[in-house]
Amino acid sequence: MHPMLNIAIRAARSAGDFIARSFESDVDIKAEKKGDNDYVTKIDREAEQIIINKIKQSYPEHSFVGEESGITEGSEDFKWVIDPIDGTTNFVMGVPHFCVSIALFYKGKLDQAVVFDPIRSELFTASKGKGAQMNNYRLRVNQSKELTGTLLGSGFPYKKKENSVEAIERFGKVYEKCGDIRCSGSAALDMAYVAAGRLDGYWEKGIKPWDIAAGELLVKEAGGLVTDFAGGHDHLKKEEAVAGNPKIVQSLVKILK
Ligand code: IPD
Ligand code: CA
Repeated sequence: MHPMLNIAIRAARSAGDFIARSFESDVDIKAEKKGDNDYVTKIDREAEQIIINKIKQSYPEHSFVGEESGITEGSEDFKWVIDPIDGTTNFVMGVPHFCVSIALFYKGKLDQAVVFDPIRSELFTASKGKGAQMNNYRLRVNQSKELTGTLLGSGFPYKKKENSVEAIERFGKVYEKCGDIRCSGSAALDMAYVAAGRLDGYWEKGIKPWDIAAGELLVKEAGGLVTDFAGGHDHLKKEEAVAGNPKIVQSLVKILK
């Protein structure tokens, strides 16, 4: 196993255990609003510090981008992109569906990824060129050839209600063609589920790099594709993503663009 993936797994497990313990106890999570319908808790902040400290112990010179603490300057060659709890609203509401998401970019390219669901103890990992695994089982995206009958994941732009009309219009158009749609509240787990073949595809607008970077490597290493709504590669910049096998992505892009 790549040594940096090994460290990322250790960091994700430490933070995940802390998050799961907090979820199951009656500790005050101190939920506060950081924007419209956008929450952060003391657990998000502490979990992010657990992750960064763990990685820094081995790689003090690396740089970090965390959802809660922002940028920690360091080597531009090695950049860790971290979401300590992806699915904070679920966490706050007591819905047991959230995860830790950690991605490593090496010289600007996705290199290592971990998505850890601490409630189900499911560890999704990927290393560039080495495939994707869930608890050590190899992952493959579904091979569906068309949208008919597919199960897709997505999310509403609940933090930016001004984008609702456009989003609902897109939902309607996709819904007409697919089997059904799930809105799980965790983009990172949605992408991990695409990699695992639990979902045939996924699309969402209004997502940040820490929501989808690790998921992107999982999907790609499981044989899938991740693009922006135009079928291009600017998904991180445009804060939108489409994921699935190449045929499903192509069908979704036709509707979404
Ligand atoms: C959110 C989740 C959600 C998605 C939002 C994200 P957070 O991340 O991934 O599924 O719909 O766009 O912001 O705030 O729970 O880390
Ligand atoms: Ca997130």
